[in-house]
Amino acid sequence: MESNFFPTGRPAAPEDVVDREEFIREAVERLLLGNDIVLAGPRRTGKSSVAGEVLRRVKERGAYIAYVDVFRASSIETFATRLMQAAIENRTGFFRKIARDMQELGKTVGQAKFAAKIHDLELGVQFANHGASPEQHLEIALQTAEKIAEADGRRMIILLDEFQDIEKLGGEKVLKQMRGAIQHQRNAVYLFMGSQAHLMDKIFSDPDRAFFRFAIQMQLPKIPWVEWENYIRDRLGRTGLSITDGALQILGEKTGGHPHCVMVVMEAALLRARLSGRQEIGADDIVHGYGAAFLTLSGIYAQQWANVKGYTNAPAVLMQIVEGRRPYSLNITQTNVTQAIDHLEEIGLITRIERGRYRLNEPMFGEWLLENT
Ligand SMILES: Nc1ncnc2c1ncn2[C@@H]1O[C@H](COP(=O)(O)OP(=O)(O)O)[C@@H](O)[C@H]1O
Ligand SMILES: [Mg+2]
Repeated sequence: MESNFFPTGRPAAPEDVVDREEFIREAVERLLLGNDIVLAGPRRTGKSSVAGEVLRRVKERGAYIAYVDVFRASSIETFATRLMQAAIENRTGFFRKIARDMQELGKTVGQAKFAAKIHDLELGVQFANHGASPEQHLEIALQTAEKIAEADGRRMIILLDEFQDIEKLGGEKVLKQMRGAIQHQRNAVYLFMGSQAHLMDKIFSDPDRAFFRFAIQMQLPKIPWVEWENYIRDRLGRTGLSITDGALQILGEKTGGHPHCVMVVMEAALLRARLSGRQEIGADDIVHGYGAAFLTLSGIYAQQWANVKGYTNAPAVLMQIVEGRRPYSLNITQTNVTQAIDHLEEIGLITRIERGRYRLNEPMFGEWLLENT
């Protein structure tokens, strides 16, 4: 049996990416045509999974690729180092270790086996520049990516994940600098992703800011439930397993089709069926799997709730929505309700259904709130 039956805890592998074919194809073509893209959407809805497949395909079509998760970088210098390393790896093959800083990276690529592959780029001079500021390092990294692509006659598709966090590292100044460097690049193409839609919006939709209208905005569509049903039946069927219609129905109701939740519940339900030696997953397994999945998710949910509590009126408004009541019937001013709603939308917790009515993006979070607050 393949590892990781229903993938959780990391981006889904290509064969497990349900129903994003159209999106993936469009993103691939756009990037190869040279369009920069912004993809913003709440956490755990499938951005990284889709992006992994997009990168795989553009690479297959001859492009170079570079992936940097801004969230994991602790400073502009680390970010620059990672970007630089990712760009160089297109020539040298993967390094086993991520360089901590530019100096360490400089030492690594100075080794004979690498040096031969990148000598034409004349990177040595730049690494040797010990006194360089983080901004200069960033400049070097951005230029290197473009240079490598240009020298080899390729596109360089650069995916910057959790891009909104660049604000924390360097603020508007760094955004301006990046914009300045990027706008002159002809070979490097960017896919900016972020899970905090409001921050991404601020960066890309504010006329006063560096990245205004810089890239094309794309959005991940909701996965139709029937696609999940097909995938789950097929996935189980490959190893002689099955699931009842009733089980699928409960799964859909309880998870609301939220990608991460579906996977976590299915994983737990499958385990339960297996442990009791059954080949068919029934409604009972889903119900138990749901309970088990809750434990897995509760850490995330507790943190999410802590976040909500930091914003005036947001807890009350959220609970109102969870309990199926209208937020505007609360005993606070309309303006205050609207502000709280905006905030909850911004942090990706709710979506507007119609005027004055909202739903939770992750129904399991709603259940958690009812049980734990
Ligand atoms: N299209 C998809 N098909 C199947 N599972 C998915 C899909 N998108 C997301 N998932 C599930 O959700 C989890 C989180 O997805 P991920 O791509 O990391 O989301 P994001 O980057 O938006 O936070 C994955 O580990 C996987 O279990
Ligand atoms: Mg992600």
